Amino acid sequence: MIRRALILSVAILAVAAPVLAQSEPYRVFDTRPVITEGPYLVATSETTVTIVWLTDTPSHAEVRYGPGSDLSMVAQPQLDGLVPVGTRHVVHLNKLLPGTSYSYEAVATRVVKLNAYWPDKGLDVRSGPHQFITFDRRSPSVSFSVVTDTHEDTGRINRLNQAIDWGSTDFLVHTGDAFHWIDTEEHLFRAWLRPTTAGLAHTKPLIYARGNHELRGPFARRLFDYVPVPEGRFYYARDAGPVHLIVLDTGEDKPDDTNVYAELNRTVPYRADELAWFREHVKTTARVSEAPFRVIVMHQPGWGWLVDGPDAWVETANEAAVDLVIAGHRHRFSYAPPGPDVDHSYHLLVVGQDQVARVDATTSELKVAVTSTDGSIVHTLVIPRR
Ligand SMILES: [Fe+2]
Repeated sequence: MIRRALILSVAILAVAAPVLAQSEPYRVFDTRPVITEGPYLVATSETTVTIVWLTDTPSHAEVRYGPGSDLSMVAQPQLDGLVPVGTRHVVHLNKLLPGTSYSYEAVATRVVKLNAYWPDKGLDVRSGPHQFITFDRRSPSVSFSVVTDTHEDTGRINRLNQAIDWGSTDFLVHTGDAFHWIDTEEHLFRAWLRPTTAGLAHTKPLIYARGNHELRGPFARRLFDYVPVPEGRFYYARDAGPVHLIVLDTGEDKPDDTNVYAELNRTVPYRADELAWFREHVKTTARVSEAPFRVIVMHQPGWGWLVDGPDAWVETANEAAVDLVIAGHRHRFSYAPPGPDVDHSYHLLVVGQDQVARVDATTSELKVAVTSTDGSIVHTLVIPRR
């Protein structure tokens, strides 16, 4: 097989990529992009999914998709009226049906030279078809797995992947600090997305809550491009079976004027905007009170560094009758039940570094089991419906 591939590539080199005989009024070269990462799925909702992949050379992208095994629908992105051409491809599918299995094929077509007129094109590459299932609030159950603070340890990510029962997991949540800091796109994939998406296998979506370490490093400002959601921000909500899931960004763990940030952090207005969204969301979204359970996933269990402290956030979560908050950051397991000794009326679960929190929700209870990658059970918890 390898020898055949070698002979083929030598043959292609030998003919020096001739222009194909074709009907297009522009040149099409005999060259295809290579898909180097993905496709992977980000934060499916009941009607949307975001598909991301990389190619080695500049290309334009589309996704063919449809319910069941149908691939007759096409999603073609545009940005300000232009078809994006690059090596990172993001396609949002929308107007999907809840609780429906879809097939999809990621397609990238090489753009050899982006001339003003008659750009030179190449051929396409396709990945798949793969499948995904949209979320559905009417579904009587949902199961998901949560990992956290993988901190660039790819061996750890592989062990966590092995500990996850993928067949019965509807989606994976990573509650942040996948990095010490983020350097480059290659670093982003090598230290986190490549091993993580290997577990997701093109079919299960990733839901990501940003950690404080992901606000650091030269590539931190590009992170969202690789875990994009249609909302365009790191905080949003999803309905998955009996769970109304709220994803929050707990920002940095130190004040903006801490010297190490050299006045390049401005989390005060950012977190104020996020708090305004959180308050408005729980007040105006009917599903928040109607869902059997409300779960928040976020990085810092203490809500991060906040100029006014966390009281307004805790109060909002309490008033919204949030049942469970799942966080990380401390690298060690802890659990604080609601009660008179604490200020919160939710169960607070802090997942350790080499642990998987598995949540199985039905309309009557939330079952949580935290296990270690060595197979031991760390904690189990059953939260009945209020
Ligand atoms: Fe952290």
